[in-house]
Amino acid sequence: MALKSLYALGLVGLTALSVRGQAAIYAQCGGEGFTGDTTCVSGAVCTEVNSYYYQCLAASATTVATGTATTTSAGATATSTCGATPAASAGTLSYAGVNIAGFDFGCDTDGDCTASGAYPPLTQYYGADGVGQMTHFVNDDNYNIFRLPVGWQFLTNNVLTGTLNQTNFAEYDTLVQACLATGASCIIDIHNYARWNGEIIGQGGPSNEIFASLWSSLATYYATESKVVFGVMNEPHDLPNITLWAGTVQAAVTAIREAGATTQLILLPGDDYTSAETFVSNGSADALNEVTNPDGSITGLVMDVHKYLDSDNSGTNAECVTNNIADAWEPLSQWLRCNGRQALNTETGGGNVASCETYMCEQIAYQAENSDVILGYVGWAAGNFATTYVLSETPTESGTTWTDTTLVSTCMAPTANGVVA
Ligand SMILES: *[C@@H]1O[C@H](CO)[C@@H](O)[C@H](O)[C@H]1NC(C)=O
Ligand SMILES: *[C@@H]1O[C@H](CO)[C@@H](O)[C@H](O)[C@H]1NC(C)=O
Ligand SMILES: *[C@@H]1O[C@H](CO)[C@@H](O)[C@H](O)[C@H]1NC(C)=O
Repeated sequence: MALKSLYALGLVGLTALSVRGQAAIYAQCGGEGFTGDTTCVSGAVCTEVNSYYYQCLAASATTVATGTATTTSAGATATSTCGATPAASAGTLSYAGVNIAGFDFGCDTDGDCTASGAYPPLTQYYGADGVGQMTHFVNDDNYNIFRLPVGWQFLTNNVLTGTLNQTNFAEYDTLVQACLATGASCIIDIHNYARWNGEIIGQGGPSNEIFASLWSSLATYYATESKVVFGVMNEPHDLPNITLWAGTVQAAVTAIREAGATTQLILLPGDDYTSAETFVSNGSADALNEVTNPDGSITGLVMDVHKYLDSDNSGTNAECVTNNIADAWEPLSQWLRCNGRQALNTETGGGNVASCETYMCEQIAYQAENSDVILGYVGWAAGNFATTYVLSETPTESGTTWTDTTLVSTCMAPTANGVVA
């Protein structure tokens, strides 16, 4: 969905360090079945990530910085080294998780989430065993966060209000409580694309007040749950005015804090389907940088970004074509560092194919090297997705044994990549 931005293209030239016969920094340099270059360019060391995947990583933290970052705006070139070097503490991600989908089924990008389309990933409601999946992911893979998408319409049973329908909310809360019982953090994700039935919140559609009252209801209920994370909105897109959208996000943040949820993380979503690649270049970063807690601080306010690895960043193709480092994670990391902010990658994924094992392992390794500003990643998706779904991370249960998909077992599981706290 995202076009390569000029900003990102400016960085490509600087990071294309490959020399014939030597693997570029962040490129694969070994692993079972690998036949390419096993020597890294100067300044990088071939490092075992797992038995399938060795990667050229910077020889020291200082060489991670590619020197100067080039920011391009309307043809002009400015040079800045701000934010190019990760903090010495970087190296270990705080969070790795999986989306447990189902309550969002029926939602489309117009925000049409008819309540009857929701499909709880809970066996008592005839869905998949989401509870068993989460328990497996925590116990066997060391995952520590889950994102639990749900449509606004389901929570209110199709009434445009912030008041929860207690019957429907009790079903959703069953999944949240099961998530919390694993000891993991649990993201409440309103999966509405900044909309209610085609109308944009705060820009012709539902008022900011109604949307804020939805968050007030949820935050009041979970005020004492320190491991609930408030995901304000899934994938806003085509917003007429990003400044007005930041005002909508501000209304939600204020409502959450004033409801008594004063310490939990809140995820701030930008335009363009929360693309990590265009977050800075199209203005979401600067607009959301103005959002604060009621006391004026930014404690716990984390930027929410998504990124897929397929040819059009849509997450609909099995094959991966990029590790997103030069186009997305590097410019994003620099902006975050320069501005004293952090981000969580709440959707990423690929098919269970070799190209995705390569690129996903590279992406996660880079995120870990920049863990001072990138808190972690959440894969898309398990829950009610069939194991045949192109991006399925749904594990298969046989007796008491769960078997992961290959992308999970080779790269995404903390036990596979070894870079999650
Ligand atoms: C809540 O939603 C259920 C459908 O799940 C519906 O039957 C019920 O009437 C709704 N309750 C209220 C108070 O609207
Ligand atoms: C966006 O909205 C703000 C606040 O109303 C306004 O000042 C600004 O001019 C708008 N921007 C555009 C591009 O319309
Ligand atoms: C962000 O970029 C996307 C296209 O990549 C565009 O649709 C959207 O309107 C942009 N938003 C702003 C505020 O520029």
